[in-house]
Amino acid sequence: MRQKIVAGNWKMNKTLTEAQSLTSEIANMVEDEAPSDVKVVIAPPAPFIYAVENLIPEIGKIVLAGQNCHQEDSGAFTGEVSAPMLKSLGAQYVILGHSERRQHFSETDEELAKKTDNALKNNLKVIFCCGEPLDIREADTQNEYVTKQLTNSLFHLTPEQFKNVVIAYEPIWAIGTGKTASSQQAQDMHKTIRDHIASKFGQDAANETSILYGGSCKPDNAKELFSQPDVDGGLIGGASLKSRDFTDIIKSF
Ligand code: PGA
Repeated sequence: MRQKIVAGNWKMNKTLTEAQSLTSEIANMVEDEAPSDVKVVIAPPAPFIYAVENLIPEIGKIVLAGQNCHQEDSGAFTGEVSAPMLKSLGAQYVILGHSERRQHFSETDEELAKKTDNALKNNLKVIFCCGEPLDIREADTQNEYVTKQLTNSLFHLTPEQFKNVVIAYEPIWAIGTGKTASSQQAQDMHKTIRDHIASKFGQDAANETSILYGGSCKPDNAKELFSQPDVDGGLIGGASLKSRDFTDIIKSF
C-alpha cells in the first residue's frame, strides 16, 4: 500500500512565535485525532524549521519539509538555502518545482532536475510539483504539459532514487483561487501521471508512488478528492495555516 500524505505548505507566512504556536496546535491535534496511517508533512519557511522541530513529538506522524532548495551543496549563492542545510535543521522532505517558484523565480524543468538530484543525494525526499496553467487546461493539452514536466525533471533518475519522490499535482488555476479541480479532473490527471510513471519505472513503482492533489483543497472538499483511487493525499496551502482546517483535511481519508 502506498503512503497517504497530507503536506502543509506555509509559503512565506508567519513570524517565529506564530510558527511555533501553529506547530504546537497542529502537533496536539494530529497526535490526538489523525489516522495513524497518514503521514503529515509541514513545510514552514526555512528560518523556522529548527525552531519548530522540538515542538513535534519525536516518534510521531509529523515530519518537516523545506519549500525549496538550491541545486548546489554550498557556495556563493546569496540568499539561497541548500539541501544539506535543510537536512541539518531536521527536514526530511523538500518541496520542489512549486508553480510559484516556476513563475516568480523562473525555475525551469532542467534546473529542477538538478535540484532533485541534489536533494536526493542529501537524503531528502522530494515532493515534486507539477501542474498546468489555465490556458493549457482550456486547450485540453494538460496531459501533455504535465507529463512533459515529469519527463524533463525526473526521468533521468534511477528506479532506486525515484522511490524517494512524491508527486504533487497542482493545477495552477486552482492554487489560492478557491477554484478546486473536480474530483474527476483530479483523478483523471493522477491516473495519467501514474501511467506515465509506469511507462518509465514500471507498474510496481507507479503503484507505490504517492500522488498528492493541491489547489484550494479544504476540509469541505478533501474527502471527495481523497476518495479517488489515484489521489493519495494533498499538498495544502491556505488551509494549512489554520490548525483546525489542516487537521480536518488530514482526517478526511
Ligand atoms: P492552496 O495552495 O491550497 O492555497 O490553493 C496549494 C499550494 O500552493 O500548494
